Amino acid sequence: MTANARFPVPPGVASKAHINATSYEELYRLSVESPEKFWDKQARSLIQWRSLWRKVVSWDFAQANVQWFVGGKLNVSENCLDRHLLHRGDNVAIIWEGNDPQDVRRITYRELHREVCRTATLLKKYGVGRGDRVAIYLPMIPEAAICMLACARIGAIHTVVFAGFSAESLRDRINDCGCKLLITANEGVRGPKTIPLKETSDEAVAACPTIKNILVVRRTDTPCSMTPGRDISYEEELAALGDEYDTAVESMDSEDPLFILYTSGSTGKPKGVLHTTGGYLLHVTATHKYIFDIKEDDIFFCGADVGWITGHSYVVYGPLSNGATTVMFESIPTYPDAGRYWDVVERHKVTIFYTAPTAIRALVKEGDHHVKRYDRSSLRILGTVGEPINADAWLWYHDIVGEGRCPIVDTWWQTETGGVLISPLPGATETKPGSATRPFFGVQPVVVDEGGTVLDGNGVTGRLCIKYPWPGMMRTVYGDHQRFVQTYFSMYPGLYFTGDGCRRDEDGYYWITGRVDDVLNVAGHRLGTAEVESAIVRSGVVAEAAVVGIPHDVKGQGIGAFCVLRDDAGEGIDLVERVVRSVREVISPIATPDALWFVSGLPKTRSGKIMRRILRKIGEGEYAAVGDTTTLAEPSVVEEIVEVVKRSRDV
Ligand code: WTA
Repeated sequence: MTANARFPVPPGVASKAHINATSYEELYRLSVESPEKFWDKQARSLIQWRSLWRKVVSWDFAQANVQWFVGGKLNVSENCLDRHLLHRGDNVAIIWEGNDPQDVRRITYRELHREVCRTATLLKKYGVGRGDRVAIYLPMIPEAAICMLACARIGAIHTVVFAGFSAESLRDRINDCGCKLLITANEGVRGPKTIPLKETSDEAVAACPTIKNILVVRRTDTPCSMTPGRDISYEEELAALGDEYDTAVESMDSEDPLFILYTSGSTGKPKGVLHTTGGYLLHVTATHKYIFDIKEDDIFFCGADVGWITGHSYVVYGPLSNGATTVMFESIPTYPDAGRYWDVVERHKVTIFYTAPTAIRALVKEGDHHVKRYDRSSLRILGTVGEPINADAWLWYHDIVGEGRCPIVDTWWQTETGGVLISPLPGATETKPGSATRPFFGVQPVVVDEGGTVLDGNGVTGRLCIKYPWPGMMRTVYGDHQRFVQTYFSMYPGLYFTGDGCRRDEDGYYWITGRVDDVLNVAGHRLGTAEVESAIVRSGVVAEAAVVGIPHDVKGQGIGAFCVLRDDAGEGIDLVERVVRSVREVISPIATPDALWFVSGLPKTRSGKIMRRILRKIGEGEYAAVGDTTTLAEPSVVEEIVEVVKRSRDV
């Protein structure tokens, strides 16, 4: 089978799906010709409103002002819980698969509702209310979802921080949005490791003046220090509460903030992407329903951590809003061995399985026997997200994991977009390995060249922009609306700029080629070159650093760092250690460089700008392709850098 293969929709899938090829074409046309009519209808049928809106959408890309369902009232937690109680109260909402495969919890909608109400009551007791910010720094345990929903219930704004981030990263996020409360666990367990979450939290909040309390969930039996008057035990408080809890929900405006999630950009520190209530909920509900073709008895598995947008939208909000069963997975795909995913599929009879290309590539290497040992006959749809998927990995996923039966939905989207924007629909779209295929309803992608000219027609390559708002789009950068305008709407006036390169082929299919800015995508994790560079310099041994993405066969992109040592840095392997330690402490182990090259200078223009293009080529091993270096202040540094890199790769 070649990489140019096409995979038609299996007839059995099309006939049972919510959307088939004909209805996709019709609905897509309606959704772009009459977006207000289309979304009005979807909003009425998919979401429960406390009162309806005055206007479906109001927008102005020049000022970056977007509002959906203006004046509408609803509550996200009510949509994810209460509305299911009557007919599906005893259905399983969350299947939790712990790090240890023996450790499984099944939580029904009724039970989840109770836990969320109890937690909401607790939050209120500690003074958290509408509009307050709450940081959640938890492992993948049901309490993470419970706390998110409890915040939504009382109108508090959560900011989930991935439990792999350092104390400093946690602190920066808490301080940026002024959180009142931090929710963490004594420790986390992931694969063979434990993660000292409470210790890291203590270190972080030492410099967080707005934090009043830390709510500590007990994940393991390991004791942790508790500061009297500040730290609260989640279990003890709940036990004291018993059944004396409040089921009230706050009636929220469509445009009230639901959450802030920090993500890396090409410059500066990570920014607080703000999502609001009505549009976000509708977008994740609709995309989850149609892209994964969700039915009542589906068991939906999304392998993402709730610390990332994929976990927000497709572990928690989308599936629960649809009343589906969502699997929360605490472990990693290779623990205790590389068959873990398929063991989970067999034991829980997973029907829809969604993961990242980096995980697929890691598993391809481990061999097919790990997959074939388990029964995967329950699987019906496979999905990928987070980075471009190479055709080989796609074909392996399709042929080996899905036994050639299951359509693959390669979903393109971003933290900023809230939910998927480009993806096949399993019952409607013929797929091509490596292509995210066609836009979702209401999404109007355009391809522009570097100068901003819109490239019409098919068979064009350029940068991906979106020309009309969609309900789930971010509304602002928390506390810095100007940065929102600047980053997304100033490059190509009138358009939302994604930061991704893309090709629209002869059939109108989209192929995302990766970031065109200084954002790296390392094993599906977003990192900015600037933040990694600053963490490297903070080691104290490096005077100046430039970071580029380098090809990596599992991670997709690895981190290559060119470093100029300080005169007083000294020598020896200790230098590498210090740089690595600094990156881990300032950001997270996920930002650890894959290659460190100590060089005597960086290629700069005469005005002092680092020529990253040259470093990128060298990092990619394309030494001859560095191009014209005559504009450099010191062209000879390029030869030296090439030598250093070549030498490091010869060993
Ligand atoms: C990349 C993750 C190719 C892209 C949901 C985007 C993808 C960035 C795909 C956002 C895909 C995501 N094919 N590339 N299917 N999905 N990307 O914010 O570069 O963590 O801009 O959101 O991931 O990453 P983020």
